Amino acid sequence: MSAQYQVHGGIAVITLNNPPVNGLGYATRLGLTDGLTKANADAAVKAIIITGAGKAFSGGADIKEFGSPKAVQEPNLLSVILAVENSAKPVIAAVHSVCMGGGLELALGCHYRIAAPGCNVALPEVKLGLIPGAGGTQRLPRALGVEPALNMIVSGEPVKSELLAMLPGQKLFDKMASSAEALADEALTFAGEVAEARPLPLVRKLPCQHPLGDAYFQFARNMVLGLSKNFPAPGQCVDAVEAATKQKFDDGMAVEREIFINLMLTSESKALRHLFMAERAASKIPDVPADTPQRAINSVAVIGAGTMGGGISMNFLNAGIPVKMLEMKPEALDRGIATMRKNYESQVKKGKLKQDKYKQRMSLLSTTLSYDDLKDADLVIEAVFEEIGVKEAVFKELDRVMKPGAILASNTSTLDVNKIASFTQRPQDVVGLHFFSPANVMKLLEVVRGDKTAKDVLATVMGLAKKIKKTAVVSGVCDGFIGNRMIEQYGRQGGFLLDEGCTPQQVDQAIEKFGFAMGPFRMGDLAGNDIGWAIRKRRYSEKPDMKYSRTADLLCEKGRFGQKTGAGWYDYVPGKRDAIPNAEVVQMLEAHRTSLGITPRKISDEEIVQRLVYALVNEAAHILEEGIATKASDIDMVYLMGYGFPIYRGGPMNYADQVGLFNVVQAMNRFAQNPLDDAQFWQPAPLLARLAAEGKTFN
Ligand code: NAI
Repeated sequence: MSAQYQVHGGIAVITLNNPPVNGLGYATRLGLTDGLTKANADAAVKAIIITGAGKAFSGGADIKEFGSPKAVQEPNLLSVILAVENSAKPVIAAVHSVCMGGGLELALGCHYRIAAPGCNVALPEVKLGLIPGAGGTQRLPRALGVEPALNMIVSGEPVKSELLAMLPGQKLFDKMASSAEALADEALTFAGEVAEARPLPLVRKLPCQHPLGDAYFQFARNMVLGLSKNFPAPGQCVDAVEAATKQKFDDGMAVEREIFINLMLTSESKALRHLFMAERAASKIPDVPADTPQRAINSVAVIGAGTMGGGISMNFLNAGIPVKMLEMKPEALDRGIATMRKNYESQVKKGKLKQDKYKQRMSLLSTTLSYDDLKDADLVIEAVFEEIGVKEAVFKELDRVMKPGAILASNTSTLDVNKIASFTQRPQDVVGLHFFSPANVMKLLEVVRGDKTAKDVLATVMGLAKKIKKTAVVSGVCDGFIGNRMIEQYGRQGGFLLDEGCTPQQVDQAIEKFGFAMGPFRMGDLAGNDIGWAIRKRRYSEKPDMKYSRTADLLCEKGRFGQKTGAGWYDYVPGKRDAIPNAEVVQMLEAHRTSLGITPRKISDEEIVQRLVYALVNEAAHILEEGIATKASDIDMVYLMGYGFPIYRGGPMNYADQVGLFNVVQAMNRFAQNPLDDAQFWQPAPLLARLAAEGKTFN
């Protein structure tokens, strides 16, 4: 059982013990109820303390039980809280460090609460598309006041215990301990003081009203709905708290329950819970055990101070890790550093970074023109021009100078990491670290695992990714890795849609309505259409059978490279990012259709979205089957963190699962009939066809 029971001078202490954060899993709940029974049966016990071992009081539900029947097996959390309330002897929650979700709901069921300062208190269920489901929406408003409670429930964000204790009239904390260290002793003293108090106070008996009544809830609802489009849970937090003010406690509990159960079934909550689990799963590599030793990374070298080199360096400076940048010429270093300074200074201006922090970060940066100066770095990341000859020269130099055991990484976005590794005598130390632009902002990091990359190198870079606050996903070696390999198919579909009659604007609007941050054409303009052009030119000779729309090439032939030239699929006004439709582009598309003898047809938004998204899904199924990605959820992480796929749809694989793979395959078979599309591409990947036929899902 995951709870300990001890008696100290007439006070029973039940200590939740389920590392890392004392999640309220089945065994912990059982331990807790057993402790309560024992304490109530022991005449020598006068009062009962519930506290948590280690780093938390309790972080709430046990994520290991997420979605499994164990999560609700009796005694479920509601029953445990009832048992606490019904205890004949006073129960005191002694909370510290982390008191969240079900942990806070448990504390609210206790007769008294004593808190250590510095404790993070929260009801974060809304972040999973839910509302608190064990009385949180009914008890917190009673204990804390309606307004602060609703703020906490809607935001899901933690608030420090000492701040909550200062709220006028609050009954959440009966006492603050003088320090975290003193909590255990002071809780025992407090328990002694209240041991004989009767009747026992219950939060459920406290009054619950807002002085503005209905008007307050109207304001709150307007505000919340305005901010939370696409997500139903925040608005329903308001409904549940309103019920707390208008209904009897038990009726309010029934409202909370009903909302909670309905939200569990929504696709938004499923997507958010999927994201939560996928994020944790991404850091685990099937054949690299969690206890694989990691190499120490105390200093980093970056080769190339261009767009990527600068952004990559900032990540490490922000994490307090010294960086040495190498370039070919002093001017290039000056340019690179000036850009980094500009970035930091705009953060300072916006109040996001303190001046002294900025100085401290820049003081960790040094530069050089000589490879010999890099020899002591623990990790070197190459971000030079995307040409294999240039990479070869750089990696040969690195192999010559770097100390044994140093990790040699490349930020290449398209080149073969195995080939790059072969330029060295130590391919086991070589790995791809594919950052996304802007590298200091984008959360995603594709870790490209070469055939010979050592396991401890992988373990090290996965650990390092966490330190620099990136979400790392492992990809095998292939052209484009996970993300760009899929986006190529999506881009190809975008081209066919133009051939057949769409305008760039229509395509962008349809997929943006679906929830993408940016449609393919606005994205092309942002990234630079010339980049895709260069890739396609290579493809035309590598894969002469692959069908492409010529529209993007025609655009580039006009020099319309995107935002950087002020003109791409759209026009741009200097200094602004608004995409303005351009008549010349529309004419260009019409002339192109005429030259191919295509009569344009009206294409529905639904078809646009299906073709773009299912193109991602089918390519992803190939990627999964080839073992380039080890889990479907990794592919979802790549798209959610790096490509602006709508969070509330949970990534392409989760979305396809929800649509039903059978339905996805049916649509693909329809698209294959379209003579202007690529019938071969729409052959369902074998994995997809198999799962669809068996009625299974990716995740
Ligand atoms: P960039 O052209 O902005 O910067 C490259 C820098 O490398 C230049 O400052 C150049 O002077 C320097 N350089 C070239 N050869 C060198 C050498 N032999 N030794 C030292 N420095 C040298 O290029 P960018 O965009 O930063 O790309 C760098 C790498 O990152 C490429 O492999 C690219 O494919 C990859 N990448 C680029 C992304 C992007 O969005 N720009 C995204 C992800 C990866």
